[in-house]
Amino acid sequence: MNFYRNIRFKLVVWYMFILCLILIPFSTYLYLSLKKSLNEQLNYELKLGCVEVIEDVNEFLKTNELEKLSKDNSMETLLDPISDYVLVFDRERNLIYKSDKFRKHSQILKKIKLNKNYTEKSAVQDIKLSKNRSIRVMTARNGGNGTPEFYVQVGLPLKDIEYPLNRLLITLIIALPATLIVSSILGWFFVYKSLKPIDDITKAAMMIGVGDFNQRLRPIKNNDEVGRLVNTFNNMISKLDESFKQICQFTADVSHELRTPLTIIKGEIEVTLKKVRTSEEYKRTLEVLLEEVDGMTKIVEDLLFLERADSGIIKLNILEINLDILLKDICEQFRNIVDKKKLKLSIDINSGNAVIKGDASQIKKVFVNLLDNAVKYTNEGGEIVISVSDLGKYMKITFSDTGIGIPPEELPFIFERFYRVDRSRTADTGGSGLGLSICETIVKAHKGTIEVKSNPSSGTTFEVCLPKEILN
Ligand SMILES: Nc1ncnc2c1ncn2[C@@H]1O[C@H](COP(=O)(O)OP(=O)(O)O)[C@@H](O)[C@H]1O
Ligand SMILES: [Mg+2]
Repeated sequence: MNFYRNIRFKLVVWYMFILCLILIPFSTYLYLSLKKSLNEQLNYELKLGCVEVIEDVNEFLKTNELEKLSKDNSMETLLDPISDYVLVFDRERNLIYKSDKFRKHSQILKKIKLNKNYTEKSAVQDIKLSKNRSIRVMTARNGGNGTPEFYVQVGLPLKDIEYPLNRLLITLIIALPATLIVSSILGWFFVYKSLKPIDDITKAAMMIGVGDFNQRLRPIKNNDEVGRLVNTFNNMISKLDESFKQICQFTADVSHELRTPLTIIKGEIEVTLKKVRTSEEYKRTLEVLLEEVDGMTKIVEDLLFLERADSGIIKLNILEINLDILLKDICEQFRNIVDKKKLKLSIDINSGNAVIKGDASQIKKVFVNLLDNAVKYTNEGGEIVISVSDLGKYMKITFSDTGIGIPPEELPFIFERFYRVDRSRTADTGGSGLGLSICETIVKAHKGTIEVKSNPSSGTTFEVCLPKEILN
């Protein structure tokens, strides 16, 4: 898997990108606003300096000529403390006074220009003195309204601005990448932790792809998106596992059911082919084969029916059904076998109008199956009672017998496909175990219910409740 295709990588890159998008403009704004306020502060101090110098010179001019300013030492004690850098020019822009610092570094003077076109009341100029030292000089003019005209220049070192600004710049240059690195590591960690279960899901899904349905993910306590995904995934695997087992069981059952008649058919044919037979013998063999083929055809038809019912293909042909007529008709079909087994079969209808709406051929299949079971699993001389009662919206049809019954532990399974109680499997009762599945499917399609009560000592009762009207 390519590293950059990881969702983690993409998330962290996005995260860092957004962080840069916030941090870089924020730091720039911080730097620029500090620079602006420091500049304003310095200019304000320079302005105050200029005003003070002008006031002092004006005071001096009350008693003296401007030209005498340089020679007057008492002025030095007044002007020099205001700033290290003070210059005073007369109206022709001749330098009259320079502070101590200028006296020592006269070369600075060459750099300071008193602009010939100077018109503003004050102007600012930054001058580099040496490699690491710069000053800002402000020029101010005194004049007008009868006062003598002269210019003053006051300077202050720029390091007051440069030092905090450089400190901030260095801090930002170090802090910005450090923040990015630390937060991307933390971000990676959190993303890794949050997405770890997704990796586990992928691994589990891969294992399932290989056919291992025992894979389950460790449930996550948090009910967040990933927690829900894990739970859903585990549920899905359980269902897949169940269906997979059902399919395997079903395939095994179908193979088993079809193998027995095929073995019989093969055996019959082999025995018959061993020598020349009389036509009577061939006829008997063919009869056995036909019986087995009929059995197989029945199984295949039943399976097809169940499969079509599962897929929802089967359409019910809803008509009125008179239960009295239908049940009597079915009992008539069983007359021979009932007589043969000396069973007592009776129909007990407790309703004046035993009519429901449903698909007559399907409902008939249900009753035939239930009566067939009752006859098959009731010993000679037993009794079978079919009764119909009106429950208002439903009609209840019960098939009670005094047969061998079903053990309680088997009851939950008897509606499963191919399920037969072991005893009866071995007994020569025939049947594939699909009958009750079909009954249940048909009754459910009619929005009814089918239930069983049984006791090995007293017999079995199947209760079918069918709605008189099928409401969609
Ligand atoms: N009336 C009954 N009395 C006793 N056992 C029954 C009765 N009806 C059904 N069973 C048990 O339930 C199993 C499933 O019935 P069914 O699905 O109709 O299959 P089949 O009739 O083909 O055996 C039967 O094999 C039998 O063991
Ligand atoms: Mg049956």
